[in-house]
Amino acid sequence: MTKALGDVIPVPASVRPAPAVSWTLDSYTSVSAAPGTEKVAEHLLAALRPATGHVLPRSDDGAIRLRLDAALGPEAYRLEVSTGGVELTGGDPAGLFYAVQTLRQLLPAEIEAGTPQDVAWTVPGGVIEDRPRFGYRGVMLDVARHFFTVAEVKAYLDQVVPFKVNHLHLHLTDDQGWRLEIDSWPKLTAISGGAGTGVDGAGPGFYTKDQYADIVAYAAERFVTVVPEIDMPGHVNAAQVAYPELTADGIAPEPRTDLEVGYSSLVAGKEETYAFVADVLREVAALTPGPYLHIGGDEAQATTAEDYRTFIERVLPLVAATGKRPVGWHEMAAVELPPDAVTQYWRIEATDAGTAGAAARGNKVIMSPADRSYLDMKYAADTPLGLDWAGTVSVERAYSWDPADRLPGVGESDLLGVAAPLWSETLRSLADAQVMAFPRLPAVAEIAWSPRAARDWESFRRRLAGLGPRWRHRGVAFHPAPEIDWA
Ligand code: ACM
Repeated sequence: MTKALGDVIPVPASVRPAPAVSWTLDSYTSVSAAPGTEKVAEHLLAALRPATGHVLPRSDDGAIRLRLDAALGPEAYRLEVSTGGVELTGGDPAGLFYAVQTLRQLLPAEIEAGTPQDVAWTVPGGVIEDRPRFGYRGVMLDVARHFFTVAEVKAYLDQVVPFKVNHLHLHLTDDQGWRLEIDSWPKLTAISGGAGTGVDGAGPGFYTKDQYADIVAYAAERFVTVVPEIDMPGHVNAAQVAYPELTADGIAPEPRTDLEVGYSSLVAGKEETYAFVADVLREVAALTPGPYLHIGGDEAQATTAEDYRTFIERVLPLVAATGKRPVGWHEMAAVELPPDAVTQYWRIEATDAGTAGAAARGNKVIMSPADRSYLDMKYAADTPLGLDWAGTVSVERAYSWDPADRLPGVGESDLLGVAAPLWSETLRSLADAQVMAFPRLPAVAEIAWSPRAARDWESFRRRLAGLGPRWRHRGVAFHPAPEIDWA
């Protein structure tokens, strides 16, 4: 069945259907890629070849045409379907990549199959003009409580980029494990990345520097920036197990595999602390081409308020020394932040003076309220996986909110964007991660991309139903939420 133009998630900014017009891809279809579009053309071919079974050779007058036009602006695109074919124009290569994602969703669901399907590959006619509402559209994966392999992280990336996500925040360290090799402090991973680490000891592993670089490169090819997080001054038990000199008394704590939070702290008054932090940040920054270094800062209940401020004030210049822009959970706003620092609001309260005060001083905010955007919250009381400390988060709850209304004092122009964290205390596999992310991640992704005026729950419900067959073809696990009339 031919889809309606605009039957896409995230819903595009402008859709002008031409109801009498359509175009059908067939074995004669070829592809024209203007200079600068070759890499995106490869993504297009990789998406279209398996299910169509067609070669889709390159030619000068292809029915599928890819080009760039900087006048459209960053990440923007135009997609025109006429009787002669499809023209995809990107404001830049990222925008063109998003045009490809939209075209994929406009083709029949069987396009997601891995083997040739006997289907008329018809696309509805008309013009889509689209651009993002926010520049930061993120997902976060907690690889500390449960480690996800490089292949699993790549698979998760493949499953989120269709929704025009452009940042992958990796929560690399926590009480239960340390997941990135640091040459100057090798016991971090030798001891706290190994067997028995993770919640219930069920998530061991760490990335070598080469493996982390592999994730960064794979993400970059999909226009995704990796944001590494080293969580401190709390959530550091794994570091202290490996290096007891990072504790107040120099005695190694026991490794922890339970769900408690708020019991560990780096020592604000010890010089070893800052030598450690400087080394770690320098090495992580050197591996990370993106502009951001996330320093955590959340749930530091084992740090006094005064020590917390001392610590953050000493660490922020260490981030600046790496040339990176600091990001922290919103508790970081307990100190006056440098102008380029970004806070990530995560709690469920309806007000937060720290985040609003920092926004008033010009610090941008990433909105990730746990009661809306945390993909690890249970959908409903009977959801087998997930937590419920922020309540249950149905698909409608994940969709029906707006980041510019979430906190008084934090409006549209204060927002860098929106992100959907996935904490992994209860997750044991990629399939577990998928079941929690899908279908709520598309809801948060639409909030991050689409104009507010274009969003509508009934429309979203209907468009979401069409993703079911696509996920089945791709072998992606998802929660068959009862709010949706699944196709
Ligand atoms: C958080 O959920 N502790 C950021």
